Amino acid sequence: MYKHIAVIMGDGIGPEVTGQSLRVLDAVAQRFGHTFHYEHALMGAVAIDATGDPLPPETLATCQQAEATLFGAIGHPKYDNDPTAKVRPEQGLLRIRRELGLFANIRPVKAYPALEHLSPLKAQRLEGVDMIIFRELTGGIYFGNKHVDEGHTIASDTCLYQRHEIERITHLAYRQAQLRRKKVTLVDKANVLETSRLWRRIVQETASVYPDVATEYMFVDNAAMQIVVNPAQFDVILTENMFGDILSDEASVLSGSLGLLPSASVGGQKALFEPIHGSYPQAAGKDIANPVGSILSAAMMLEYLSLQEEATVVRQAVDWTLQHGFVTKDIDPVNFYFTSTIGELVCDHITRKVPAEVNIANIQVRKSTII
Ligand code: IPM
Ligand code: MN
Repeated sequence: MYKHIAVIMGDGIGPEVTGQSLRVLDAVAQRFGHTFHYEHALMGAVAIDATGDPLPPETLATCQQAEATLFGAIGHPKYDNDPTAKVRPEQGLLRIRRELGLFANIRPVKAYPALEHLSPLKAQRLEGVDMIIFRELTGGIYFGNKHVDEGHTIASDTCLYQRHEIERITHLAYRQAQLRRKKVTLVDKANVLETSRLWRRIVQETASVYPDVATEYMFVDNAAMQIVVNPAQFDVILTENMFGDILSDEASVLSGSLGLLPSASVGGQKALFEPIHGSYPQAAGKDIANPVGSILSAAMMLEYLSLQEEATVVRQAVDWTLQHGFVTKDIDPVNFYFTSTIGELVCDHITRKVPAEVNIANIQVRKSTII
């Protein structure tokens, strides 16, 4: 099968982790006889440096022509603490979401038994944690009118939602719930916000089309607490843009490391896949970042491209590395492996060089040495 994939490595650790995903995709192509054609494009701080624009028109065109986009990370410290910056790397990501119509961001969160000790929660609370967050991605306070007066004494961001924006992601969330444990939790702030009351009204109406799925409503402050107190209660969480941004970071650490989690942004004709972590500039260029979030994002992309078996093979390879302690520094600060070694091991597993012929001694030499 031939697939045309746009690749945006982005900022910070983006190039390193995405580089491992490309190796993994090549290993998949080799095993299954596919051809993946990658077209690279710039976005974020690197694009600002090169062109002055965080999302140059060529990048958008590349993504529009490709079947899917694999993306690394965005952001650079030189913009983070500078409220006067007019052009910011993140604008590239927000614009590409909007331009490609990626209205739903899907973030699965699972606890890995082998990494239980890394979770900030006690092991017993992690039992059965398997949720998926559907975050609305192209509306709400992120995209409403923004204003600041000239004297910088007053500012506003408008949270606006239209019926069709709520309906379309609600359908996606309920369809996903039908394939899972058949429960949707709408997270909102309907006791205060008009937009949240609109969400409730529309979700209630839409839910009636899916009588096999149970619906639960939860205020966002309570949800933030419940994710910590009883995360196993959640199946599908459906929520608006900013609540989803915050809750998905919170939920992500349940698994032990933010570095493990993938995401898919879908909607119209196109889709974009990215790890949920940021650009982690302190680690850039050191070969220590965790490539698993990116590799699992590539697996989500394979699934989206109807390559289900291929996606499963990638996930099995990742599980194998985690179970055998082949992990990066974020997971084991003492006995850790490098970003590139993890990528290589995942590839070796996909192409069946391991575990059958595994020579643990050979793998051990690829480990870091901590003095
Ligand atoms: C995310 C990120 C982005 C967001 C930033 C980089 C604009 O935090 O994808 O969750 O807030 O959506
Ligand atoms: Mn975020």
